[in-house]
Amino acid sequence: MILDIDHVGIAVDDLEGSVERYRRTLGVEPSHRERVEDQGVEEVLFPAGASFIQLLGSLGADTPVGRFLATRGPGVHHVAYRVDDVAASLARLRGEGVRLVDEVPRRGSRDTLIAFVHPKEMGGVLIELVQIAG
Ligand code: CO
Repeated sequence: MILDIDHVGIAVDDLEGSVERYRRTLGVEPSHRERVEDQGVEEVLFPAGASFIQLLGSLGADTPVGRFLATRGPGVHHVAYRVDDVAASLARLRGEGVRLVDEVPRRGSRDTLIAFVHPKEMGGVLIELVQIAG
């Protein structure tokens, strides 16, 4: 079950410059920063209600976000839905024949469980499922 939009992930070339721009233009301070080695990103979260804007800097050219930036340039990278049970959501999607990037949930930032769904199935938008640990 979808509970909320967890975050919108935005790929940026210049993480520090983008953080400053978002601070100034949104008038809001970042609430979380984390380097996620296995995803090849450094992320900064800005709160927006119960959701977040997530700025994503790449840790190198040979990472998913690095390749995204090289081919498509900076911009919206993915939309993350907060769900109550990622494994159950994956089972449901699999049952509907939806192509998955992650067959099983894996650990995300903020002690979350996450999984990505292939963009081809969802109108060209990369979808992430996020379950808050607890
Ligand atoms: Co994300």
